[in-house]
Amino acid sequence: MKRITILTAFIIATFAVNSFAQKVVKKTTKKTTTVVKKTAVSAKPSAVALEEGKQLLAKNDCLTCHRLDVKIVGPAYKDVAKKYPATAANYEKLTQKVITGGTGVWGEVPMAPHPTVPAADVKKMVEYILSLK
Ligand code: HEC
Repeated sequence: MKRITILTAFIIATFAVNSFAQKVVKKTTKKTTTVVKKTAVSAKPSAVALEEGKQLLAKNDCLTCHRLDVKIVGPAYKDVAKKYPATAANYEKLTQKVITGGTGVWGEVPMAPHPTVPAADVKKMVEYILSLK
């Protein structure tokens, strides 16, 4: 009889520990999911991506015509950042403009097209430019 009681107590204890462990696992999983969702909604470029964008500007020909603070051939990047809020729609729009080139927004001088620069790289540069407030 004593043995049975001990056995029952053991089974109950094992069950309790198990279900507790499961709860902990569930909680942890929930937390991870929430964090992932938040990142997707805000779509804010990471510090690493912004640094990459900055370096890409120097690697490409962008700084021949643009400076951060002053207008030379093209508008100052800080003025571009003032004109366009850092939204997904503006990233898209300006990425297209850099690739196809164009004129008429800042004056009559056209920006040369950049059809050979990968769109993903251009987007990183645009994200960096719009972060300059
Ligand atoms: C040959 C000179 C030249 C080069 C090289 C150049 N730009 Fe420009 N950029 C311009 C001019 C001029 C404008 C203004 C165009 C206008 O008024 O529509 C401009 C405008 C822009 C704008 C704002 C566009 C708008 O519609 O408001 C962005 C963003 C930009 N350039 C990014 C870049 C990036 C990134 C690079 C390198 C990949 C680059 N530019 C290379 C001359 C240049």
